[in-house]
Amino acid sequence: MILVTGATGTIGSALLRELVRQGESVRAAVHIRPLDVDGVETCSIDYDRPGTLPPALEGVDTLFLLSQEVAHEEPMVEAAKEAGVKRVVYISSFKADTDTFIVGQLHREIEQRIQDSGMAWTFLRPNYLMQNFVTLMGDDIRNEDAFYDSIGDARVSRIDARDVSQVAVRVLTRPGHDYRAYDLSGPEVISHHQAADALSDALGRRIRYLELDDDSFRRRLMSQGVPEDFAGFIEDVNRRNRNGETHDDTLTDHVRNILGREPTPFPRFCRDYAPLLGGH
Ligand SMILES: NC(=O)c1ccc[n+]([C@@H]2O[C@H](COP(=O)([O-])OP(=O)(O)OC[C@H]3O[C@@H](n4cnc5c(N)ncnc54)[C@H](OP(=O)(O)O)[C@@H]3O)[C@@H](O)[C@H]2O)c1
Repeated sequence: MILVTGATGTIGSALLRELVRQGESVRAAVHIRPLDVDGVETCSIDYDRPGTLPPALEGVDTLFLLSQEVAHEEPMVEAAKEAGVKRVVYISSFKADTDTFIVGQLHREIEQRIQDSGMAWTFLRPNYLMQNFVTLMGDDIRNEDAFYDSIGDARVSRIDARDVSQVAVRVLTRPGHDYRAYDLSGPEVISHHQAADALSDALGRRIRYLELDDDSFRRRLMSQGVPEDFAGFIEDVNRRNRNGETHDDTLTDHVRNILGREPTPFPRFCRDYAPLLGGH
């Protein structure tokens, strides 16, 4: 049985739906939000309450592990090892093994704990999710026809979370992926100005990218309820990306190699998500 954590989130919900469709034996770990996938066994967990973890892991041989807060993942790794879980597929972050910024280092610490646990592992390390334009920036796009960031005009790759979910399904259900780490990117590097043009085309109205300095951007995120450490992380990433203008080193082949097709390009993502951003 596969236990899917983060089952109500961006990556986990699409993953869960596909595993259920394929008839896999799966259990969904639910935290606060209700599950929107039918026909699946559920359990309730809270990483902050370690006592909720062992019952969720009963009879589980494979753990799909994800959380928005990296610190949350440590008790789950310990509980999985105790419960005799054989394999962990873990959502980490892009190039976590060499990242000098805090979020990569935190993800790397969890990767190391999983490696030290003796369980088999696969690490999926996505780049910046395209869905951030809906989750983090959606209100501004809907209400102001604009989005704010401090990344300047740097060109970096993004990835559609649906591709991450599909890669995870393959890795969970097909052999040959144990003890491998995959850095996952979309098909091209694009700037936020190019992203604004693609959003404008898809939504049928002009969407602007408004550049902020680091401090203003961090304060804006925090005023919108983003925790200080996460806002600081985004600021860190933006500072790094601004250091060069085009980042071809953010492109990888793993989505193509694993799925046998090209990763989703940004304009396609914009068209698919247009209804959620006030388009048609
Ligand atoms: N966003 C990016 O650009 C990006 C890029 C690279 C890597 N990542 C990594 O991807 C992961 C986030 O994936 P996502 O966007 O799919 O996440 P998400 O949509 O924010 O979903 C987070 C999931 O974790 C659950 N959760 C939160 N707190 C919990 C707790 N205390 N106990 C149990 N479950 C809890 C949530 O359930 P409730 O909603 O019910 O609380 C939800 O199902 C993070 O590890 C992040 O570092 C993100």
